[in-house]
Amino acid sequence: MKLATILIHAGVDPDPATGAIMTPIYQTSTYVQDAPGHHKGYEYSRTQNPTRQALENSLAAIENGKHGIAFGSGLAAIEAIIKLLKSGDEVLVSDDLYGGTYRLFTKVLVSYGIKFRFINMKDAAVIEKEVGESTKMLWVETPTNPLMHVTDIEACAAIAKKHDLLLSVDNTFASPYLQNPLDWGADLVVHSATKYLGGHSDVVLGAVVVKDDELAERLLFIQNSCGAIPGPHDSWLVLRGIKTLHVRMKQHCKNGEKIAYFLKEQSKVDQVNWCGFPDHPNHEIAKKQMRGFTGMLSFSLKDDRTEAANKILSATKLFSLAESLGGVESLIGHPATMTHAAIPAEERHKNGLSDSLIRLSVGIEDAEDLIADLKQAIA
Ligand SMILES: Cc1ncc(COP(=O)(O)O)c(C=O)c1O
Repeated sequence: MKLATILIHAGVDPDPATGAIMTPIYQTSTYVQDAPGHHKGYEYSRTQNPTRQALENSLAAIENGKHGIAFGSGLAAIEAIIKLLKSGDEVLVSDDLYGGTYRLFTKVLVSYGIKFRFINMKDAAVIEKEVGESTKMLWVETPTNPLMHVTDIEACAAIAKKHDLLLSVDNTFASPYLQNPLDWGADLVVHSATKYLGGHSDVVLGAVVVKDDELAERLLFIQNSCGAIPGPHDSWLVLRGIKTLHVRMKQHCKNGEKIAYFLKEQSKVDQVNWCGFPDHPNHEIAKKQMRGFTGMLSFSLKDDRTEAANKILSATKLFSLAESLGGVESLIGHPATMTHAAIPAEERHKNGLSDSLIRLSVGIEDAEDLIADLKQAIA
């Protein structure tokens, strides 16, 4: 089946009890047993829930995986993956990534003896040189939040295979409509389903998808033992969001492109970061592994000060000033003080995340209206 059909139908069967076409929200914590151990496959909702199960089946299908495992948030999904490791193990991480992931790694998980080393992942040859004795995982975000750097997943998979590492890819910015990391050899793909998968800014949820049975078993054990599961209603919201992913993503990409080119022509704008530009440093890799270039982009100002950015951030009317991304409505944000505030200024500047950087999550409104809004705000 083609992706549009998979997005609408995978994992979802009419309800066996009533024939309801939409998966019911099984709002229950437990399930009645006929005798101890005699049940219908469900014992307790931390362990299994039919609504979550439908979502997990859908997630596996849309990422070309075998097992989907849902969590209470993207960060809970990321933490579950790191719990596959043990004290003393090292993870090589892209030096531009979501600030919350950076905080989880450097402020929480580091206390359990896991080492995180942040490296430039724009060039695969550099990554291989960094692999050391204790390296056990490559952590790739591509495109990255917020600088839209692109990493070659296939090249990373080759390095991971050669050195017996796990390759984990955060696919939040691309979504399964534009990129399927497992097809390029990744072992694990992770999503903040809060974003494009949910698509309507009304739910927080995370997901991991894998092909390997043993990895899935270990992750399901962590999911049940640690308990960071999503509730049935949130699972249902993401399941519903997935059904329109293809329609939304097409429009996000179209609008993203128009706005990226508009911004490039503005005299007050310095650098525009969008991986669809032919002169983006890794555009050829993006073209190879992605089917479109998303509605996510960021730009810096020639007047590289927070105050200059703030003027624009408070002047837009259609772009709402808010954290998060991937919803149908356009959002504008200031990574340095919002989504990436957890990264020390020195570290941010070293990696190119400047004080004036503004991030846009381009929604699916009319592109002309969005451009007019930016025009008056930048003027
Ligand atoms: C790329 C990326 N990964 C992970 C996360 C964390 O997801 P959540 O907010 O659902 O915990 C985010 C959140 O913005 C993100 O942008």
